[in-house]
Amino acid sequence: MSPHRDSAPAHGPAPAHGPAPAHGPAHAHGHAHAHGGTHAHHCAEVDWEVMATQLENGAELQLPGLRRTAARLGELLGPASGVRRVLDIGSGPGVMTCVLAEAFPGAETVAVDGTPALLERTLARAERLGVGDRVAVHHAELPEGLHGLGTADLIWSSRAVHHLGDQQGALDALAGALRPGGVLAVAEGGLPTRFLPRDIGIGRPGLQARLDAVLEHWFSVMRDELPGSTPVVEDWPAMLGRAGLTRATGSTYLLDLPAPLGGTARAFVHAQLTRLRETAGDMLDAEDLATLDVLLDPEDRRGVLHRTDAFLLSATTVFTGVRGSGPGA
Ligand SMILES: C[S@@+](CC[C@H](N)C(=O)[O-])C[C@H]1O[C@@H](n2cnc3c(N)ncnc32)[C@H](O)[C@@H]1O
Repeated sequence: MSPHRDSAPAHGPAPAHGPAPAHGPAHAHGHAHAHGGTHAHHCAEVDWEVMATQLENGAELQLPGLRRTAARLGELLGPASGVRRVLDIGSGPGVMTCVLAEAFPGAETVAVDGTPALLERTLARAERLGVGDRVAVHHAELPEGLHGLGTADLIWSSRAVHHLGDQQGALDALAGALRPGGVLAVAEGGLPTRFLPRDIGIGRPGLQARLDAVLEHWFSVMRDELPGSTPVVEDWPAMLGRAGLTRATGSTYLLDLPAPLGGTARAFVHAQLTRLRETAGDMLDAEDLATLDVLLDPEDRRGVLHRTDAFLLSATTVFTGVRGSGPGA
């Protein structure tokens, strides 16, 4: 099937998504609230359209790591590979889609997502960056849409597979869409994002570790609630191997913005904490909630918009596997 610029609304509720700070800055999450009115009844569900700006800001902060990753994937594919078609599965606002389009100028790069507004944003971004002629979008609700993607030389998917009930099934389908010699790369896992020291002079020290625990719980609920939720040992190289790929391994890049943070990163941290308070605040005790409120107060010098000790540190792991090109591949 060829890519298209489908702007039809996503059919059925989008799967739920976990709060961002535990799973990388670009991994923005939140409760669906009443936006759109259709799927606010799930307890761990996100309105992705509302998250658009935060997703784009987070991914832009990651741009150096994303560019290095694209270059590394190019090496893995080999100079003679002739990359003709690249897929970005669960592409969000298309930051990596455009990085891939820049890194593989001979290819058509297709952003695949279930949220039409994010695909529109991807097209606008591609136009702005001068790669509009090589970027296409494809609206698909996954996992159903996994089987209508056509083939590709490189398939990238960042923080999307964990929003699908059957993660192994998703990897199997994606690996099956690779041409011989093609590469599947999934950004999953890594380390929770940190942005504050242990003792911030407000409330009980160790707030971020407690926030991580709450987010981890939220994430488990999110996964349990997904349609077709299937437990699996999240050994990504082994899963890629079971999907029929070879040379499966992982590689991690850091986002390391030291204190004092610039305005963009501060605004990002503030938005993440705001989302976290809305999504998982009810799992925190009163003292931690009060601390969060101080951190979020734009007027308070102790807030994340002002404090000198706020930093941004995260680690993103990208797991890769290669589709064999030999006999029987
Ligand atoms: C956490 S965001 C990741 C965005 C981007 N890849 C990144 O890493 O910044 C997850 C994306 O997957 C999409 N998504 C989640 N569940 C989906 C589903 N079942 N079908 C299609 N798209 C889905 C959302 O619309 C969202 O854009």
